[in-house]
Amino acid sequence: MAHCLTRQHYSRLLALFPASLGNLLLLRTGHNRGKAAPFSLLKLIGSGTFLHDLSELPELDDLFSPKGVILDAQRRAAQLFGSSKNWFLVNGTTCGIQASVMATCSPGDYLLVPRNCHIAVISALVLSGVVPKYIIPEYNSGWDIAGGITPLQLDEAVNELEEDEKRVGAVLVTSPTYHGVCSNVQGIVDVCHPRGIPVIVDEAHGAHFRFHDSLPSTAIEQGADLAVQSTHKVLCSLTQSSMLHMAGDLVDVDKVSQCLQLLQSSSPSYLLLSSLDAARDQLSKNGNIFDEPLAIASETKDQLMIIPGISVLDLPCFASELIHCVSHSALQICNYWDMKLMTFYMKVIKLFLSLLAHGQ
Ligand SMILES: Cc1ncc(COP(=O)(O)O)c(C=O)c1O
Repeated sequence: MAHCLTRQHYSRLLALFPASLGNLLLLRTGHNRGKAAPFSLLKLIGSGTFLHDLSELPELDDLFSPKGVILDAQRRAAQLFGSSKNWFLVNGTTCGIQASVMATCSPGDYLLVPRNCHIAVISALVLSGVVPKYIIPEYNSGWDIAGGITPLQLDEAVNELEEDEKRVGAVLVTSPTYHGVCSNVQGIVDVCHPRGIPVIVDEAHGAHFRFHDSLPSTAIEQGADLAVQSTHKVLCSLTQSSMLHMAGDLVDVDKVSQCLQLLQSSSPSYLLLSSLDAARDQLSKNGNIFDEPLAIASETKDQLMIIPGISVLDLPCFASELIHCVSHSALQICNYWDMKLMTFYMKVIKLFLSLLAHGQ
């Protein structure tokens, strides 16, 4: 019978050696903490990155069976984001969406989904063998952008499937969309939960919602069962790092964990994982972090609106009363310095226009 070393064996072995030698034994990173790193890359990103690019060690915990620092970090994130359970993701919101669909639906089930959903949802359908029932969102031809989907549309679609004796596995909503349009998630939850249908929200662009009163409520606050957020897009973690949040008891926690393990690398990057914890820490220590960027976003909107020929996307752009909100993400509030620069440009344009108006 083949023998393999378990974590316990490693720990016992480690105790026999000085710490530095122990680390040498256990590390599986080919660059050997930067010693064998390609010079060009070392020059570009510095030695610190390699020093901290570690492989799985007992002290660093296991993403797929967390009991130590990762479990602690995920619990802190759940507390801050108001969910009952949090998973750190190293393959973006993409793998969170795929796992959410696979954990809630069986092959042949129907997933109700907006027709303009992200490609991650399409890949989830391919992987899971789930059948889409597309809902066409409102379309604004003036802006050439789609809005959200409404509880009424969902109710009709679920009724149609139920009349045909089809099983609805879950509903997936994109809120906000790339352009910042939010759906009425609470209304959608009210349609789904009495029928036992879980609601998954692709909240890739809404990870910041919880951190300012003037931003829309988060999907979890509105009763969604699963919400996936690209922490790397709207908050400050490294690219590819995201979070999956869960609330309620409609979804099987273990199934979600198993699907996530199936979809992600067995060598998750500790740089990505620690960047998620650092992003959480940054938010928890800076309660007013969005005050200034939001004020600048608002000012920029006001200044843009008075320039002839420029319009700003806002609520009345959509006819439907069921569009919940247009979030400031359309103005990329996190991109603080760009916003400052933009405000400056606005002032220059305004000055130029007023000079023109006065014939100078
Ligand atoms: C609406 C939406 N959902 C999901 C994704 C996938 O997110 P990620 O890049 O974190 O995998 C994106 C990416 O742009 C997106 O715009």
